[in-house]
Amino acid sequence: MTFWENLRIRGYACSHEAEAPSPDDLARELEWRCGLVATGRVASLAPKSSEDASPRTMSAIYGLSQQPFHTDCASWPRPPRMLSLHCIEGGFEEVSTDILVFDWGAVERATAVNLKEVVWPFQCQSKRAVYGTILQRLPEIGWRVRFDPTLLRVACNGLEKELCSLGRTDSIVLQSGHWLIIDNYRTLHRRSRVGESKSRRVRRCYWG
Ligand SMILES: [Fe+2]
Repeated sequence: MTFWENLRIRGYACSHEAEAPSPDDLARELEWRCGLVATGRVASLAPKSSEDASPRTMSAIYGLSQQPFHTDCASWPRPPRMLSLHCIEGGFEEVSTDILVFDWGAVERATAVNLKEVVWPFQCQSKRAVYGTILQRLPEIGWRVRFDPTLLRVACNGLEKELCSLGRTDSIVLQSGHWLIIDNYRTLHRRSRVGESKSRRVRRCYWG
């Protein structure tokens, strides 16, 4: 499949796939094909230990350990539809970006009330909470997933495992110069454990 078919069907696509745009053409192609434009500022991400990270961020909670699967900006009223991760420096050892690719038939058949019916509060620091279900069917895109255990104001033990049972996990190792675009509504993602790869640098951009 081509880059654009993978993005639409699988929920993510990589820079080395057929018909992938150049980094310079990505913005124009995303606007033309998907109606998305860059939103927010471009962030430069580097692995941080819990002690070095800003308080209450995912790095402060998980440090260099594996992150939980999550939606970026899950506490925003309208999270960005997509995020791109451009690897500036890959580090010394493999660090993967794991993507939970859903089986939409399994999602449709799922009967877990806590995923489809319970209205959860997502809250980032002192901002107002956003209330929503984890799996919500939207007329224009089908099922949308919103999940981040670090932003849920109430205990959510077992939810990540339930979500993982509804799909498969693909692991992408970005090398320097590679990039990846992820559908933030149709997949969940996480960074694997960072060992000695503290030199890893990734540029992240949101599209909405
Ligand atoms: Fe993320």
